[in-house]
Amino acid sequence: MSALGAAEPASYYTEVRPLLQVHCSGCHQPANKLSGLDITTYEGILKGGAKHGSALVKGTPDNSPLVSLVTGKLQPRMPMGGAELAPEAVDLLTRWVREGAEDDTPAEAKAPQAPTEPPVYAQAPTITGLAFSPDGGMLAVGGFKEILLHKADGSNIEGRLLGRSDKIHSIHFSADGKRLVAIGGTPARFGELQVWDLESQELIRSVTSTIDTLFAGDLSQDGKWAVFGAADKTVRMVDLETGEEVYKAGHHEDWVLQVVFGIDGKRIVSVSRDRAAKLADAATGAFQENVNFLRDKLYAVARHPRRDYVLVGGEDRVPYLYTMDRPRALKIADDSTLVRKFEEQDGKIFALAFSPDGSLAAVGGVSGEVPVYDTETGERVASCRGHDGGIFVIAFHPDGKRLATGGFDGVVRIFDASSGEEVQSFIPVPIQQAKSADDAQKAG
Ligand code: HEC
Repeated sequence: MSALGAAEPASYYTEVRPLLQVHCSGCHQPANKLSGLDITTYEGILKGGAKHGSALVKGTPDNSPLVSLVTGKLQPRMPMGGAELAPEAVDLLTRWVREGAEDDTPAEAKAPQAPTEPPVYAQAPTITGLAFSPDGGMLAVGGFKEILLHKADGSNIEGRLLGRSDKIHSIHFSADGKRLVAIGGTPARFGELQVWDLESQELIRSVTSTIDTLFAGDLSQDGKWAVFGAADKTVRMVDLETGEEVYKAGHHEDWVLQVVFGIDGKRIVSVSRDRAAKLADAATGAFQENVNFLRDKLYAVARHPRRDYVLVGGEDRVPYLYTMDRPRALKIADDSTLVRKFEEQDGKIFALAFSPDGSLAAVGGVSGEVPVYDTETGERVASCRGHDGGIFVIAFHPDGKRLATGGFDGVVRIFDASSGEEVQSFIPVPIQQAKSADDAQKAG
């Protein structure tokens, strides 16, 4: 800033980009390019749309559709059908273009790359992704920008899969154990689905989707498809062979936090903060019906391994078991699909899991305790305790005798499912105490 106090030049990265993200990206993003315009990247704005070409003429706001469409000089005025931008916002866009419309995105924020060195941890990161391999020998745990492959008893780290997503929200092994699919992203930046070859420990596919992190999903039994929920209220399906997004379905009105396939892979159930568990056609995403009676926000869903039952839970602390098939043709708003309610928990529910034969159901959430229930009777058979803070993920071992839990405290705990006794616990990442300022900087 000069001594005379001239204003700082307008910044694309810190000012213009967030403005466009809020007011414009709903209609002009890669998956929804109205008029051919992707406004979520600088390159996309330069390229422009089908009608006017480049949205920018650097230095001349009057000739830039990006500006003249929000001032109303060109019609139809943007944001299309929405409230006019505030005068300060119009002024910001105008100034930025007049000053040359430069891209000041910092190098480290551009197309984030996977780290080349494993991250250095000063403390254990929150655990949101956890899965046992089908043979039970391996436990995959999501860290920060990586997935750690542990021996199932936590005795050794056998691999570190470094990726560009800060956080992994769900991890899935293919049935043959050869591939691992991870779903996550970096909040407010991008969502990503990663496909790893486990033998070579190489990333064979990275699919970027939406401009925010993706939430939990599922793989089809044949390993061909992945479905997941997103912060843009959509459910999306990706073809894992080609990496293409097959569809995005927008039936929900709020974040979609988890999606599961039905037994035969022909249907999916998604749960959302909008309170609904929605049944849809897996191949097309076409909505079929609400599975549940709407009560409160839903954060988790698990499918029974042997039948088309789903266990859902969330804000109101009660796990509900529903059948995906409405038994009688009754009104949509009834609760005739409810099979069983389980005991009310001590806090919100964030994680649900069935044992491999479906006989047991485990529930985790804010309270940190993980009760295990007999699915048939709804009776509590065990209580797994020890976590200091909320539970975000639960995974049963394929032998059905043990379950692993993780969450806020960053510790993986393995419990005996029938007694609730802790069998093992370990911090899944190597922790390094910062010895010098230099190290501390690296850790930061
Ligand atoms: C509700 C959807 C919607 C929103 C939100 C929206 N647009 Fe548009 N935009 C459209 C549609 C539809 C067109 C094509 C209009 C036409 O020419 O008939 C369009 C066209 C454009 C074009 C011209 C593209 C071309 O074909 O050359 C620009 C530039 C543009 N919009 C910028 C913006 C900006 C900037 C914002 C946010 C301030 C915004 N839009 C918000 C729907 C939207």
